[in-house]
Amino acid sequence: MGADSLTVTDNRTGKTYEIPILYGTFSTYGAAIRTADLRQIKVSEDDFGLLGFDPAFMNTASCRSAVTHIDGEQGILRYRGYPIADLAEQSNYLEVAYLVIHGELPTRAQYDDWVHHITYHTMVHENLKKFMDGFNYDAHPMGMLVGSLAALSTFYPAAKKVRDADTRKLDIYRLIGKVITLGAMAYRHTKGLPYVMPDNELSYAGNFMSMLWRMAEPKYKPNPVLERALDVLFILHADHEQNCSTNAMRSIGSSEADPYVAAAGATAALYGPLHGGANEQVLRMLRQIGSKDKIPQFIKEVKDRKALLMGFGHRVYKNYDPRAKIIKQLAEQVFEVMGRNPLIDIALALERIALEDEFFLKRKLYPNVDFYSGIIYEAMGFPSDYFTVLFAIPRMSGWLAQWQEMMVDPEQKIARPRQIYTGVAVREYESMEKRKH
Ligand code: CMC
Repeated sequence: MGADSLTVTDNRTGKTYEIPILYGTFSTYGAAIRTADLRQIKVSEDDFGLLGFDPAFMNTASCRSAVTHIDGEQGILRYRGYPIADLAEQSNYLEVAYLVIHGELPTRAQYDDWVHHITYHTMVHENLKKFMDGFNYDAHPMGMLVGSLAALSTFYPAAKKVRDADTRKLDIYRLIGKVITLGAMAYRHTKGLPYVMPDNELSYAGNFMSMLWRMAEPKYKPNPVLERALDVLFILHADHEQNCSTNAMRSIGSSEADPYVAAAGATAALYGPLHGGANEQVLRMLRQIGSKDKIPQFIKEVKDRKALLMGFGHRVYKNYDPRAKIIKQLAEQVFEVMGRNPLIDIALALERIALEDEFFLKRKLYPNVDFYSGIIYEAMGFPSDYFTVLFAIPRMSGWLAQWQEMMVDPEQKIARPRQIYTGVAVREYESMEKRKH
């Protein structure tokens, strides 16, 4: 019997099986068994075999991935091996997007080529403006983003050739380029302002700011502090391994649907308040608390299970989310330009009180990325229902990196979970007159 295996005895039959153990990159991290190996464990020839049962994927790896590594106990996040803090300090978002998608930092020539292609794919078809105009003035920007991303699929029917590397490359340029344009259009639509088309002389974040905020001036000049802050926020949100929206991207992509509709589905998953929608909920929560003296009462409500402390807790991090640390520092730089957001004081006090409380300590609940990001977004002038769009824009590169990785992974097939059927085995159809329930 090999040392790298499990010996399993089925006490129903007394039979013993040997199940190989697989390893990830780090031998202590990512050791796993293939749950398909459990299928051989049967009580009889016609038995289907043992399944792994894991609602919400609490302990199931769905893929091998070399994009992002999170060590939740240590509070570590690395893209392609580079610590997030180093990237936030020294890199820029488009370079990071190249890194997550291609696996290496670009050379100067690769970087220039990448930036050129993304920049020249920011423009959208005129008909998309009409499409956007169809939304109500008070439509949620995430609904508009989901709809318009899906609509892009109809403009690029060639994107269906998902097995073709050159097609994928072109659609990756388009999606990263156009997501800022669509995001900005959603913003302008709710404000009743005319859409601003891209200015290709600006940086990625600067171009986005121009499409959001340009008024009558002939050339928009982004404030460099805000431009950098937005870019750093984009770096922090670029990828986060197999979360709910990335899993949606992979799952939809596994049916060989084009990446526009897959990205629309991933964006829909991000919209939920337990995922990317949490930043919007944090602001609502802080506003509801209203002042520092109301914090103990709110904490009591959380402990009595009447409320959630939004922006706290994470499926993977059981320590301080490293992104939250960086965002907290970034907030001060933004406040110097835009003025202090008074909600930060409530947030800081709330964090301090929660982190001294047994309830949160015992459950290892720490601030996550969403706890402070909304406060910065609000200081920059974004309405709270727009925050999740600011998460979706940079996450596009992560979704595409994961989608691309899946498309070339020979182990992957259409994603199709099993179930444990709990319904009635079989029964006869009854006419309506005979039904008693
Ligand atoms: N406030 C109060 N209690 C909490 C919270 C919270 N924010 N999060 C978890 N708990 C409790 C939970 O009730 C459970 O307690 P018990 O063991 O006594 O039943 C325990 O902590 C473990 O939590 P869990 O629900 O098993 O954790 P999960 O991995 O299923 O959920 C989560 C993770 C992020 C959905 C959850 O922590 C949560 O709802 N947080 C608030 C929403 C939020 O901030 N989401 C953003 C996540 S980070 C960015 C992103 O992914 O988009």
